[in-house]
Amino acid sequence: MGSINASVDFSTRDEGRIALIVMDNPPVNALKHELRAGLVAALAKAAADAAVQAVVLTGTGRFFSAGADITEFGQPRRAPSLIDVIVELDAMTKPVIAAVNGQALGGGCELALGCHWRLAAASARLGLPEIKLGLLPGAGGTQRLPRLAGVARAVEIILSGNPVSAARALADGIVDAVPEGDLLEAALAFARQAVAAGRPLRRARDVTDKIEAARADPKIFETAAAPFLRRARGEQAPQSCARAVRGAFELPFEEGQKQELALFLELLQGEQSRARRHVFFAEREAQKIPDMPAGVQPKPIARAVVVGAGTMGGGIAMCFANVGIPVTIVETEQAALDRGMARIADNYRTTIARGNLTQAEMDKRMAALTPSLDFARVAEGDIVIEAVFEEMGLKQKLFGDLDRVAKPGALLATNTSTLDVDVIARSTARPADVVGMHFFSPANVMKLLEVVRGKATSHEALATAMAVGKRIGKIVAVSGVCDGFIGNRMLARRSTESERLLLEGALPQDVDAVVYDFGFPMGPFAMGDLAGLDVGWRIRKGRGITAAISDALCEAGRFGQKTGAGYYRYDGRTPTPDPEVERIILEAAARAGITRRAISREEILERMVYPMINEGARILDEGIAMRPSDIDVVWIYGYGWPAWRGGPMWYADSVGLRVIRDRLAAYAERSGDASLRPAALLERLVAEGRDFASLATGKTGT
Ligand code: CAA
Repeated sequence: MGSINASVDFSTRDEGRIALIVMDNPPVNALKHELRAGLVAALAKAAADAAVQAVVLTGTGRFFSAGADITEFGQPRRAPSLIDVIVELDAMTKPVIAAVNGQALGGGCELALGCHWRLAAASARLGLPEIKLGLLPGAGGTQRLPRLAGVARAVEIILSGNPVSAARALADGIVDAVPEGDLLEAALAFARQAVAAGRPLRRARDVTDKIEAARADPKIFETAAAPFLRRARGEQAPQSCARAVRGAFELPFEEGQKQELALFLELLQGEQSRARRHVFFAEREAQKIPDMPAGVQPKPIARAVVVGAGTMGGGIAMCFANVGIPVTIVETEQAALDRGMARIADNYRTTIARGNLTQAEMDKRMAALTPSLDFARVAEGDIVIEAVFEEMGLKQKLFGDLDRVAKPGALLATNTSTLDVDVIARSTARPADVVGMHFFSPANVMKLLEVVRGKATSHEALATAMAVGKRIGKIVAVSGVCDGFIGNRMLARRSTESERLLLEGALPQDVDAVVYDFGFPMGPFAMGDLAGLDVGWRIRKGRGITAAISDALCEAGRFGQKTGAGYYRYDGRTPTPDPEVERIILEAAARAGITRRAISREEILERMVYPMINEGARILDEGIAMRPSDIDVVWIYGYGWPAWRGGPMWYADSVGLRVIRDRLAAYAERSGDASLRPAALLERLVAEGRDFASLATGKTGT
């Protein structure tokens, strides 16, 4: 409990000469109303107290402040706003020093920028991540940051949304010092010195040297913004962020800030930011297991073992090495092991070449990896992840072996993407310790981890898998056991429909263009070519299923990018539509007796998305996914669904479930495909006038 209110403490040092204001709103010092009001009161107190000569502002714990309280968005704005707080800072005639003790993000960073000087702990990070919420920094950040860091750096920081280290912030001129030793003592000393020297107050709003350069040469801005805007495709926030920063050097401060606020409010009320805020909370909800008994603790993981040094196994091993968890990679053949290790080293070298890793860091990571042909080393692992060929017999045999060798209590994880985790678990005498950990390819890059909870999986094993996932930097979503789990089961519906669209009249490039324009990084055919068409072909053959066009391509040796041809022809990685593919499609359609027709973009989009939503409804009804938002998380982080469209189930609500139900019914009727008939849950929700969001528990803050 602070002396101003529950979130803000005011005390003095140096016999009342320095006021110390501490923000204390766990867990992240979000700037909720009470905190803002407390800051205004504390600043007024410092201003009014004649004895106080300077102010130090800091936060508790790991955070200076993580910015605006996102749960307040969508509610009526309550004064004082953060801008009001910063206006008070601007009005201060006594030096105010921010002691940035931890992360200063969004409004938290803007608050620090509103102080006269900033001292940061070496571990602190500063950033303006609003763009990731479909917003822009709305409390002066787009105006003050360019003045301190220059326009090009401000563009990079604001349009990437990525925070910078204290050292980088110092180099950029965002902070004034990164003292060694106790930050608070250093800030107090800085305050004393500023008073003693009568240092003129340095308000960021009045600093002009760096933006003069952009005033003289707006190309500085254009060049910095161009790569971000190119990637923005359909998303509003990057455009608005860029416009706001442009205002910093085109307009006087007050007008620039007025424009910034107008752009911020426009984004705040828009659908895209609502969707992105939904995703923010969805990610965090996905980590919560409603039936997890209180007190269940994840098991400690000191060492990992990955069985299989293929592309997947290597990528998974990298995830552990990247965060400093030692990992043993077990293979059966030297050549495979060597290939796997070489691939890992190559991956790291590419990252170095891109400037995202140092040689020293790579050496450290490589040193965390131990290749071995000795299966007995499985016993070292607190977690053992299997990443061998996708074949049930092989996996059953392997899990039998793991059972014999792994240490008691070790988490045994399968990376299967299609097989029944319960069956695999039954090959061991400890099914409670078995879980699915479905990584996405490339495993060291893709953010999603589907944790598959088997019937016998214990709470402790589940908690451990989720904690490990978080530790290696993944976004985790839990799926029950079913064919394809959440993601691939829905994807299968899209694949069926995309093949059908080709037969009925579309070409791969037509379908891919619609899906790309919707916001996916690529369409289903380009994605198939990238992943390799032979994978699905082999699975289909095993199951006795056919897909006329994809099968014909594979029979012609067109496996995708790796063979230089698939649904497209490839020159390197660039796809070119191929008349040969059109011929294969026309033949397949003729064989099936289908008269091809022109298919509208609207129809293509509906058929690419609605059948997936329908399957999502079944997945929910069966309890495979715990909540609609978990499905959104899977699709955004595993399959590139555009985050600003909130995920498939969120999107369904925005379109309206009745519309989707009716369209599915029409497509089911026309195709005779019963799987397209509206799912029971969809029918129920429509009948009750409800949406998917109404099934969710917990906060949404949107
Ligand atoms: N507002 C409200 N709640 C927040 C929050 C915020 N800004 N940031 C985090 N939280 C909540 C989370 O929802 C979570 O709640 P539950 O435990 O109930 O799920 C809790 O705080 C802890 O968060 P994390 O689990 O994410 O903890 P972490 O340590 O892994 O990450 C973090 C911490 C880096 C701050 C991360 O939470 C994050 O990125 N937060 C958002 C930061 C942000 O975008 N700030 C800008 C806000 S917009 C703004 O400030 C606009 C403006 O210009 C005025």
